[in-house]
Amino acid sequence: MHFQSLTEDDLRSSPPWWHDRNLAADFWRDGETRSAVAIDGGEIVAAGAIWLSRVHDARFWVDIVVHPEMRRQGIGTAILRHLATLRSRDIPFAARGYVDEEKMLFADARGAVTTQIVPPARVDLSTRTSLRSHAQVQAVAGIDRSRIEAAHAAMYQWTHETWSPVRPGFETALNEGLWDVLDVDASAAVVDDQGRVSALALVYRDTDPPLIVAETTTRHQAEGEHLVEGSIRRAMAILAHRGLTNVDFDGHVSDPHFLPALSRLRPSGRWFRIVEIPAP
Ligand SMILES: CC(C)(COP(=O)(O)OP(=O)(O)OC[C@H]1O[C@@H](n2cnc3c(N)ncnc32)[C@H](O)[C@@H]1OP(=O)(O)O)[C@@H](O)C(=O)NCCC(=O)NCCS
Repeated sequence: MHFQSLTEDDLRSSPPWWHDRNLAADFWRDGETRSAVAIDGGEIVAAGAIWLSRVHDARFWVDIVVHPEMRRQGIGTAILRHLATLRSRDIPFAARGYVDEEKMLFADARGAVTTQIVPPARVDLSTRTSLRSHAQVQAVAGIDRSRIEAAHAAMYQWTHETWSPVRPGFETALNEGLWDVLDVDASAAVVDDQGRVSALALVYRDTDPPLIVAETTTRHQAEGEHLVEGSIRRAMAILAHRGLTNVDFDGHVSDPHFLPALSRLRPSGRWFRIVEIPAP
């Protein structure tokens, strides 16, 4: 078996077992985005890609696929080893999946350590009355865009700092395309007496049902839990008044003001894991 760069030709003639994978041609963005195929007997038996996000640079995301009839023969491990040699920096890999997904067993066998858990996310909008409302909550539509972008970046930065720190200049990539997907009427924010945005419940309308991301903009925010509850409650009320019945949330078990609110909304669904895999 040998390895070579994954090409545009490989993508064009890709077998059905590649579908659903995050694969692109080698160097598709730059030296931080690499991919390869494993060849055996003149045939492609596996493919894999590693990439650094434009927002985070502490770990390379990895995706691998092995020919379904050739699994459990060490090929996945072998291509992971090869991908490790393509890293532009000596940092570990990251992977993610629902806790009951088979691919996480491969990650675990390769020494995965859980870095974050995303709790079940589907919520019935009628549960919003279990949250307190807050008088200072308002629609994002009435607030200057640059202040929302700055608040979004601040919220994102501190909620990731302990387990997946952002890279310098991450704000541009983070906020790219934000206004194409943000529901500014349903999204809610708290603006304090000094005019500072202190909490957000951002509603994304490019998913079905819509998705809410909510937290304060600083870790140590006075009344943080109440501000987040109030923001979420308003966002959910707007969606309910439009006739919707459900919403999804995206957050982490380590988000100290979001998780208590979510727990009251009786979410259902599957738990999700993000793991670090040491480079072999
Ligand atoms: C995940 C995948 C790449 C593993 O490829 P592979 O060639 O079978 O991996 P390996 O043979 O190197 O397996 C190494 C170890 O991982 C674990 N493992 C891999 N697949 C497993 C499975 N389905 N169930 C339980 N353990 C598994 C085992 O411990 C295995 O060692 P063992 O066979 O000696 O018990 C392959 O199953 C696949 O292509 N899945 C579909 C695509 C996918 O989910 N990709 C995500 C990868 S991040």
